[in-house]
Amino acid sequence: MKILVIGNGGREHALVWRLQRNGHEVIAAPGNPGIEQIARCIGVGVGEIEKLVELAVTEHAELVVVGPEMPLVAGLADRLRERGIVTFGPGADGARLEGSKVFSKQFFARHHIPTAPFEIAATVAEADAAIARLGGAVVVKADGLAAGKGVVVASDANEARIAAREMLEARRFGDAGATIVIEQRIIGREVSVLVLTDGKRLEVLPAVEDHKTIFDGDRGPNTGGMGTVSPAWPSDDLLARIRHEILEPTVRGLAADGIDYRGVLYAGVMIDAAGAPWLLEYNCRFGDPETQPIMVRLIGDLGKVLAGAARGELPVGALATDARVAVCVVVAAAGYPGAVRTGDPIRGLDNVPSDVIVFHAGTARQDGQIVSAGGRVLGVTALGISVGQARDRAYAVVDGIELSGKQVRRDIGARR
Ligand code: GLY
Repeated sequence: MKILVIGNGGREHALVWRLQRNGHEVIAAPGNPGIEQIARCIGVGVGEIEKLVELAVTEHAELVVVGPEMPLVAGLADRLRERGIVTFGPGADGARLEGSKVFSKQFFARHHIPTAPFEIAATVAEADAAIARLGGAVVVKADGLAAGKGVVVASDANEARIAAREMLEARRFGDAGATIVIEQRIIGREVSVLVLTDGKRLEVLPAVEDHKTIFDGDRGPNTGGMGTVSPAWPSDDLLARIRHEILEPTVRGLAADGIDYRGVLYAGVMIDAAGAPWLLEYNCRFGDPETQPIMVRLIGDLGKVLAGAARGELPVGALATDARVAVCVVVAAAGYPGAVRTGDPIRGLDNVPSDVIVFHAGTARQDGQIVSAGGRVLGVTALGISVGQARDRAYAVVDGIELSGKQVRRDIGARR
């Protein structure tokens, strides 16, 4: 198949890598310098909806895989389907699961999916009352997309009230914060579970544990993810419970609500101290850096499976998983997750052993050299027969990469 992958991050590099290894002709828009080494890249940005549609048409793409949430929320998948293009990714209606926290929490409640008790507020008075009713230590979420920064985990009522004011009054996230969700905080350990669906059937991908904060030991501000390990720690029984209590009711609920969801559902699930799973949120796209270890572990023709899902005929059971462990260690730029310094040369990308893949996330080519161009720069991903071996292999490559001011967590997968 000729497959167009839309996006320019580590997630898309991993998708292109997997699809290309399955023997498909892959093109990417806009891609990045890592993707360029294995596929043709075309300089159309992820926000250029009409140009992306025209590109898919003129390139005769047999399948389009949309990476980031923003174009999905903006209706790119709908526009592609209107032109008869087989597209993996939900339409704007389904993408609201990520694009609107109010919509998604109401969806979870309507379909009896276990999620933290919550209230919705559009004024400071409503927010203060909700914070008091929910007990102070709450999570405050901007309704709309806020570049991954719209969630504040408050340790007391005062922090929660400040967060609510920043969103509702100061409009820190613009209109995305005109309405907020306030929910009770669930304490536990999080796992990312991604599932492919054609709106009826499900194919659950290997579970992944992300490491969200910038510093070791889960300290410091949250990031988009500093590293991942797959398989994740939950037992098969717990994963079966997540499927039964969260994933299956979601797919049934989408269908019942008249939403024809063809794409990936990425569930952020918190397991509480009693071992019960709670759905924190859905993303309507593959996770980053969750996709990197998943892609190196998957066995089977992913292109065929994504195309099947996109056509409403997901071939369940066509994918298998490598029993080995995959660890992805993110190399981040100086300043991340705050103001990031870019344009620093990156060295040490050659002579990487064959069991390690360096996925590019925030890189650019400048005067023939690869330089940093974003907060998360690289995702160094290694397979091993144990977590320890995968970690050793990944860190050996990470340590050989030169990037001025580079930030790396040393404890990815260490908690296993
Ligand atoms: N790993 C977090 C995300 O993809 O949103």
